[in-house]
Amino acid sequence: MTVVALCSLKGSPGVTTTAVALAAGWPSGTQPVLVECDPAGRDIVARYRLDLTPGLVTLAAAGRRSGDDAGLIWQHTQRLPGGLPVVAGPPAPGQARAALVELTSGPNGPLLRRAVSRPGVVVIADCGRVDADSPALGVVRDADVMLLVAGAGDDALAHLAVMVRPAATWSPRPRLVLVGDGYPTGEVTQALGTTELGIEVAARIPHDPAGAAAFAGKPAPRWGPARSRRGQATAELAARTARDALITPPPWRWRASQTPPGAHDVPEFTAPSTHRILP
Ligand SMILES: Nc1ncnc2c1ncn2[C@@H]1O[C@H](COP(=O)(O)OP(=O)(O)O)[C@@H](O)[C@H]1O
Ligand SMILES: [Mg+2]
Repeated sequence: MTVVALCSLKGSPGVTTTAVALAAGWPSGTQPVLVECDPAGRDIVARYRLDLTPGLVTLAAAGRRSGDDAGLIWQHTQRLPGGLPVVAGPPAPGQARAALVELTSGPNGPLLRRAVSRPGVVVIADCGRVDADSPALGVVRDADVMLLVAGAGDDALAHLAVMVRPAATWSPRPRLVLVGDGYPTGEVTQALGTTELGIEVAARIPHDPAGAAAFAGKPAPRWGPARSRRGQATAELAARTARDALITPPPWRWRASQTPPGAHDVPEFTAPSTHRILP
């Protein structure tokens, strides 16, 4: 299994939208499951009018009771239109902390990995806005790939410049996803020094309100979200992240300043073919 964690450091740049689009556009042949880990809100529940349970809280409670829970996650998912399974987020921030701790460091071991037994399952975790005290940081740290979603305007970048160095140490594969208008990608990476920090830019997602709305439970635009500029960009992001996640983790303890040898030596991967939540 693979865990891909999405998070932001400031504002609301589009983490949830990107997480839904990424799961929906994940290359066929694997089983994506979306897990809403954002302690600040259950936007997926609200946008798709999901039930309050089952979800993260029931999953955590079940994991606490048992040490043998291979496949447990499937008993705690609901379905988005089109069939994408999602573990709904906790209703209140207080419940979020306990449930999130359970996911990565409960008494019986890291539940998120225990609960998914089958190979080929890809957990897409929406961790929302995180900082050093966030209860979702454990999920980010435990993930195989971190997608840091950020705007590319002045205020977003001013904050990123301060936070990006510690954030780069949260993951063996820190990746930056820039959303919307602002500075050109090359200028952003140069200003932030991402190469030195071992952070690759995974995608530049265009400003595209209609495309974004289609991944937020709103009716799809006439041409379909898969064809929208945003849909295209996230399809490319899905293919790239899938390929990225297949790279064998480095056998040594990585340092943020290092790019592991071979990290750019990626195998071919088939392009995404399905968008599972599309009507
Ligand atoms: N690429 C985009 N272009 C335009 N609007 C977007 C884009 N991505 C997200 N949005 C919109 O921005 C708002 C916040 O998105 P959301 O994914 O909920 O952000 P976050 O999870 O970071 O808080 C939503 O109204 C969403 O439709
Ligand atoms: Mg969100």
